[in-house]
Amino acid sequence: MISVVLLGAGNVATHLYKAFTKADGTFVKQWYNRTYSAISSYANETETINDLAQLKEADIYIIAVSDDSISKLSSNLPFQNRLVAHTSGSVSIHDLDKKNQRAVFYPLQTFSKNATLDFSQIPICIEITEKGNLQFMKTLAETLGCQPYKINTEQRQTLHLSAVFVNNFTNQLYRIAHEISDAKSINFDILKPLILETAKKVQDMSPYMAQTGPAKRNDKKTIKRHLKLIESEAHKSLYELLTASIKKTHGILKNRKPNKTKH
Ligand SMILES: NC(=O)c1ccc[n+]([C@@H]2O[C@H](COP(=O)([O-])OP(=O)(O)OC[C@H]3O[C@@H](n4cnc5c(N)ncnc54)[C@H](OP(=O)(O)O)[C@@H]3O)[C@@H](O)[C@H]2O)c1
Repeated sequence: MISVVLLGAGNVATHLYKAFTKADGTFVKQWYNRTYSAISSYANETETINDLAQLKEADIYIIAVSDDSISKLSSNLPFQNRLVAHTSGSVSIHDLDKKNQRAVFYPLQTFSKNATLDFSQIPICIEITEKGNLQFMKTLAETLGCQPYKINTEQRQTLHLSAVFVNNFTNQLYRIAHEISDAKSINFDILKPLILETAKKVQDMSPYMAQTGPAKRNDKKTIKRHLKLIESEAHKSLYELLTASIKKTHGILKNRKPNKTKH
């Protein structure tokens, strides 16, 4: 049975707590958070603490706190030569204090505390400083039903950048579509099947091949009509920017060659 100590009580830590508790091969030995009230309701399930001095020995310590505080928290750990991992997509493994064996356990998914997640669909990106810890980190991911991937820092940071495009930016576009439809009393639910189909399509087809719409067709009349319909200047700029980006990719902009990577 793998013993885990979790540090942090935000979106990721809360999901990890539930997953490690549910999994057969792992248990959460202790749960630390700076603010005790965030974990106090779990006190009858595991040992909840807000004092680092009370940390006990465990197979792994997983730091799932805000990126900016990972380094300091790892330095404040009152032990050395144990296995300590963070869960960030962008923080270097070397930001963890080298007094301990260091690892990254980055779950490439979007976590919100109250959203339900299927861990079997979550890729875990693993990085280690000591080769001997690789198999343990893989086993830890597999115990949750996740697929582990060994990647280096540059690949992880690039994945994180790509994730911002496919998740955060896409979600912001949903938000804008929501605002635009709300303003005309249109139920956002009508757009939901399209959102799902767009995400589903790229499972079997490249994003290049999946693109449709007025920018790809170079339908100038529709583009002009859309720009007239948009009330916010900020939304208008974004529409123009994305339209230009699609045109460039598909070789429609004047004097531009199509993006050669048609996959
Ligand atoms: N959210 C995602 O979708 C996602 C996905 C993959 C990876 N990650 C990574 O997972 C990590 C946690 O993200 P999250 O979204 O779970 O964060 P979050 O919900 O914002 O939670 C932040 C946690 O960090 C703690 N914290 C903040 N500043 C601290 C400090 N100075 N000292 C000690 N603890 C501090 C907070 O404690 P208090 O309760 O005391 O404020 C809280 O427990 C980050 O590295 C993030 O990049 C996030």
